[in-house]
Amino acid sequence: MQKKNVLLLCGGGSSEHEVSLVSVKYIKECLSGIAGVELKTIEIDKSGSWVDEAGKKYLLDPKGYLRSFDQDGNAGIKMDYAVPCIHGYPGETGDIQSYFEMIGLSYLGCNSETSKMCFNKITTKMWASALGVANTPYIFLSENDKSSLQIVKDFQAKHGDVVVKASNQGSSVGCYLVEKGQDPASTIQKAFGYSPFVLVEKRMKPREIEVSVYDFDGKLQVSFPGEIICPSNFYSYEEKYSQQSLTTTVTRAENLTSEQIKKITDYATKLYHGLKLRHLSRIDFFLEGDVIYLNEINTFPGLTPISMFPKMMEANGHSFKTFLEQHISNL
Ligand SMILES: Nc1ncnc2c1ncn2[C@@H]1O[C@H](COP(=O)(O)OP(=O)(O)O)[C@@H](O)[C@H]1O
Ligand SMILES: [Mg+2]
Repeated sequence: MQKKNVLLLCGGGSSEHEVSLVSVKYIKECLSGIAGVELKTIEIDKSGSWVDEAGKKYLLDPKGYLRSFDQDGNAGIKMDYAVPCIHGYPGETGDIQSYFEMIGLSYLGCNSETSKMCFNKITTKMWASALGVANTPYIFLSENDKSSLQIVKDFQAKHGDVVVKASNQGSSVGCYLVEKGQDPASTIQKAFGYSPFVLVEKRMKPREIEVSVYDFDGKLQVSFPGEIICPSNFYSYEEKYSQQSLTTTVTRAENLTSEQIKKITDYATKLYHGLKLRHLSRIDFFLEGDVIYLNEINTFPGLTPISMFPKMMEANGHSFKTFLEQHISNL
């Protein structure tokens, strides 16, 4: 491959900053092994500064040059490609993608519009319903007021336990279980602390099944469904990332019927095309009884050593390094 300057961005301003720093190690390892890739890794720190591994500050100018702050008169390095390895703001929210689009820099992953639509759990559900993809029963709130509270209480009366979620969050932050009969007011307040809209869903008793979807050899690939087996039945931040987690994962969920596998694959394909997903995403489903429901779409899935996306891709016979290489060399 002809030499390509690749900007690998990590960190970002969200509650998933630390997760991104773990994911980036894996991508860096994969990118470092690709001939022709000249890698520049930049962390967006919590104050929003762009810093390299030595702590030196940079900016990406509107002509696509990565320039150090103290590089007076020096044009910097023209970037050919960007990999936004950021979960949550500004990488999974479409913001950084908007900037890349503005300055004409090619990048890995979903475009700004799709990222934004999928990062909002309410918009995702509206799209899913419009595309004929079943999803969990829900209501959404735009205001934290008395009438919203009544709507939630009515929803609780109908469904029992509910899950209250900030609309724009990940890693289970701002996501709470409210049991039947429990006053939801303080939980709704907490969820509104994270995002302008709040989603309230019926609490399901599901198996958590997910697939990696990605573009490999120019073709859409949907992996065999994997499973998150979480004994507490609530895959919280701690269950996701702590050493003490009791959760296990498998890349081949057991005892799925061929109809269920087909349904999951059909739904994933419909969502990929209907929402114009690009390059890679992880799509998470719930299986309750015999019914498959969409839970959510992650447009920049975790790539930590315990993350499902690369494992399901490998189990599907494809290497993440080759996947990256294909996308970078196809520029
Ligand atoms: N409607 C629901 N019923 C039962 N459990 C749920 C429901 N919604 C979320 N959960 C639990 O909470 C976890 C996190 O919710 P999710 O919507 O996937 O948010 P995040 O984007 O933070 O991962 C899920 O993996 C699941 O264990
Ligand atoms: Mg999730």
